[in-house]
Amino acid sequence: MADQQHYSPGLEGVIAAQTRISFLDLQNEEIVVRGYNLLELIERARYVEVVGLLLDEQFPTPERCSELESQMVQAEVPELVYEILAKLPARMHAMDRLRTAVSALAAADPDANTADPDAERAKAPRLIGHIAQIVANLTRCAHGEKPRSFEPGRSFAENFLRTLVAREVTAAEVRAFEQSLIAYSEHELPNSTFAARVVASTLADAYGALTAAVASLKGPLHGGANEAVMEMLLEAQTADRLEELIRHKLARKERIMGFGHRVYMRRMDPRALLLKRTLQELVNARGSGTELVAMCQRGEDVMRTEKGLYPNLDYYAAPVYYLLGIPIELYTPIFFAARSAGLLAHIIEQHQDNRLYRPRVLYTGPRGLKV
Ligand code: CMC
Repeated sequence: MADQQHYSPGLEGVIAAQTRISFLDLQNEEIVVRGYNLLELIERARYVEVVGLLLDEQFPTPERCSELESQMVQAEVPELVYEILAKLPARMHAMDRLRTAVSALAAADPDANTADPDAERAKAPRLIGHIAQIVANLTRCAHGEKPRSFEPGRSFAENFLRTLVAREVTAAEVRAFEQSLIAYSEHELPNSTFAARVVASTLADAYGALTAAVASLKGPLHGGANEAVMEMLLEAQTADRLEELIRHKLARKERIMGFGHRVYMRRMDPRALLLKRTLQELVNARGSGTELVAMCQRGEDVMRTEKGLYPNLDYYAAPVYYLLGIPIELYTPIFFAARSAGLLAHIIEQHQDNRLYRPRVLYTGPRGLKV
């Protein structure tokens, strides 16, 4: 049936997938991931454990974790992918370069054209490792520098961060970064996950579905918001000027990046609360960055009073990445790298129990015209 009654612009409130992966339970204020509370995972788990949980449908044993971590850390990015990246102009948006690289990964996989869930589950850790290494080397490749591989013997999160920032990193920095990875790892059915499932529902392979997800995540209403938040904070420089800037933008009916959420609407994204704490812990460990915290708080206060809107995860992930010294152009690619675990779980689930996505329209165009 395709009638007005069933039309919901932006599919707002529509249940578009049956899943065992995750659920935003607003009533109980919980983000359920495979039965666990995401906030507890952010506080207590390691990213590799969350990857295991997402892929295997159960919390991984220490042995399974070591196996996954070795696969993710030792996944060697095909030379061809780095060659392609080196040819792309540095002015091209990092998410566009990443989209090209994710698509090109298929070239080195003899079994790329499969929609078989077992085959996909088997290759998923390698793919997650590939994507993280590509993201960590995006800027290097754009400037003609040699990409760096992850090193066995170090955790996935440590490898990812030290390759991004090209220096030794402290345990506090790795933990802050790892918490952001877990926070970004899975979040029910946002636009990028939906895009991946729509593509997967044609029985297209994981490379196509992931490529669609990168394209979706780039948008400023979605993953691109974390970069926009940092640009706004840098433009303002002080809490007073941020307040002025936000008021000015609101007066011009502009959206303030890092605030609002389709599902949480007028509540705080619980992930943002945790990342706010992560930011404070990072500042305490470094002994610097208090002005940034004060600025974020002021932005939060102004938006709550003026619009009744609360921060989402991107608002607090941005200053965390900034203090870690990560180039701003890599914030959204990192979001994608972290989310690749959740995306692969969704692609596998879609292929396991597939029904082609093919909705209808509410036609509002003319009729009866003659050639
Ligand atoms: N700044 C100013 N006003 C806003 C904002 C914002 N960030 N978000 C919502 N509003 C207003 C909007 O103008 C509208 O006001 P009115 O009713 O007066 O016209 C009202 O709130 C409802 O907005 P909406 O556009 O119907 O809400 P939506 O569900 O379509 O929007 C959103 C969700 C995330 C697109 C939106 O909140 C937004 O544009 N936020 C900024 C971008 C952002 O931070 N995105 C990251 C989302 S969370 C991480 C992720 O999943 O990527």
